[in-house]
Amino acid sequence: MKLIRLAVLVTFTVSQVASLKVGVSKVDATLPDGVPLAGYNYADRRVPHWPEPQETKYTTWMMPSKGHLQPTWVKALVIDTGDEQICFVTLDAIGSDGTLMQLAYDIATSKGFTIPFDNIALFGSHTHSGPGGITPEFLWAVAPAMDLLVPELQETLANSIATAMLEAAANLQDGSIGIDIAQLTGVTENRRADISPYLKKDDIDPNLGVISVNDGDGKPLATVWNYAIHGTCWGPSQMLSNGDIMGGVNDVLETMNSGVAMFINADAGDIAPSNSTCNNMPQFDGAPVIATAIMNARNNIKTSQNVTIKVAAQVIPFGETNGNLTLARVENCTKGGPLDICTICRVLNCDINLHLNEAWVEQNPKFGAFAFNINGTNTGMVTIPGEALSDLGTEIRNDLLNMKFDNVLLGGYSNSHMGYFATTREYDVGDYESLLTFWGAYTADWIRGNCTMIAKKIAP
Ligand SMILES: *[C@@H]1O[C@H](CO)[C@@H](O)[C@H](O)[C@H]1NC(C)=O
Ligand SMILES: *[C@@H]1O[C@H](CO)[C@@H](O)[C@H](O)[C@H]1NC(C)=O
Ligand SMILES: *[C@@H]1O[C@H](CO)[C@@H](O)[C@H](O)[C@H]1NC(C)=O
Ligand SMILES: *[C@@H]1O[C@H](CO)[C@@H](O)[C@H](O)[C@H]1NC(C)=O
Ligand SMILES: *[C@@H]1O[C@H](CO)[C@@H](O)[C@H](O)[C@H]1NC(C)=O
Ligand SMILES: *[C@@H]1O[C@H](CO)[C@@H](O)[C@H](O)[C@H]1NC(C)=O
Repeated sequence: MKLIRLAVLVTFTVSQVASLKVGVSKVDATLPDGVPLAGYNYADRRVPHWPEPQETKYTTWMMPSKGHLQPTWVKALVIDTGDEQICFVTLDAIGSDGTLMQLAYDIATSKGFTIPFDNIALFGSHTHSGPGGITPEFLWAVAPAMDLLVPELQETLANSIATAMLEAAANLQDGSIGIDIAQLTGVTENRRADISPYLKKDDIDPNLGVISVNDGDGKPLATVWNYAIHGTCWGPSQMLSNGDIMGGVNDVLETMNSGVAMFINADAGDIAPSNSTCNNMPQFDGAPVIATAIMNARNNIKTSQNVTIKVAAQVIPFGETNGNLTLARVENCTKGGPLDICTICRVLNCDINLHLNEAWVEQNPKFGAFAFNINGTNTGMVTIPGEALSDLGTEIRNDLLNMKFDNVLLGGYSNSHMGYFATTREYDVGDYESLLTFWGAYTADWIRGNCTMIAKKIAP
């Protein structure tokens, strides 16, 4: 009896080690010329007499794009351990929207995709020159950061996302993966350093997470990099859609034998690319610097087939927004910073605490966590449904390290987009990121609490 049980156990372990499968895909999801570009709500991007509309085929409050500089890529990675299948999807867009993700998932499942919704994460790169018109939340539409939803555009993009998911699943083959975290400084800076007494320019998140995905012969299939950086090298005068600096890095990576290069943004709420990173656009002087750091990290990663993955996910209702006197905090403003929140509120007749329901901004985000055990090394990843400031990112990272994860990945701008998450300290300092933190002074604590709560369910 004892012998038989041992035999079963050994067979199980061996088959598990041998059965890791990985699949990747890369789909050109470029939308037609003339779409709004999401990222800036002023200067050349906004109609001249906003809030008076100036309609074109795809735009209402924003100016139509004049074409594209780079394709809008959707890239997908499926990892199948035999026990668990997960799917990561990256999208060259300002963020990820819950309705877009649901739509893509429904299309994919109708065509035979079988990975459960909870095991999928959709990550927006946060390029500020990607497509708009693809999310229904009215606040983003009127801001105007996204412009009004154009169902045809949303459906086209959802189809591309579904195609990427299906192709990655169809491409499953024997492979191996590895994860490591390198450090990278000098390419980003803290953009609140001039505003906040607590922050200096070099208060950035230096963690550069890298997931190496190889085929059965050890050749690179994909490289996923996870770093905190705003996609703001191009300003609002750029009317051609493109992936900004992260798109530039991906293009360089793919010339360096990275396989499909996928970007997952992190706690970039207050982290901008530094000037030297953006120099010499559209090549970006920083792109080869960042790409080289990624490939150096990748070359040090020993991939393994001995992988287990655990997944936890939960939808957490946040309820109506609660500006908690946000507007009072800017009662004397004439323009309220780049968002122009005072004008918007005058137009909309907002109440003082900015109580907005889910027609205005998502409030039922999916929080997800992934635990990777790769040959004994534990990596924890949480998804964050919006823009965490870097001090919040540090708190969440430390929470996971305290749970005995060896490595931590922060999946920012994922699944849903609820705006910024400024910590109480920065909320009180005020300004742009604070005004766009919609659930009051403790928003970041609740984001942190929920990330931690989900991660704990699958901690080592
Ligand atoms: C970076 O560029 C901005 C905008 O062009 C400029 O205002 C700023 O002075 C530059 N900073 C440095 C450190 O060169
Ligand atoms: C996996 O771990 C075992 C035991 O710790 C070790 O002997 C082996 O070298 C590791 N394999 C890889 C690919 O890291
Ligand atoms: C707005 O201005 C009034 C009058 O100057 C002042 O009393 C009030 O404190 C100001 N409010 C803010 C939030 O600065
Ligand atoms: C697989 O990883 C586990 C740790 O999770 C380790 O105990 C085991 O020795 C590894 N198996 C092989 C074949 O390396
Ligand atoms: C709103 O502000 C008050 C006063 O600063 C504070 O006591 C309260 O906890 C805040 N509530 C939220 C939801 O931020
Ligand atoms: C999760 O978020 C909800 C909604 O904001 C909040 O009420 C709750 O306290 C948060 N949970 C934790 C553990 O922080």
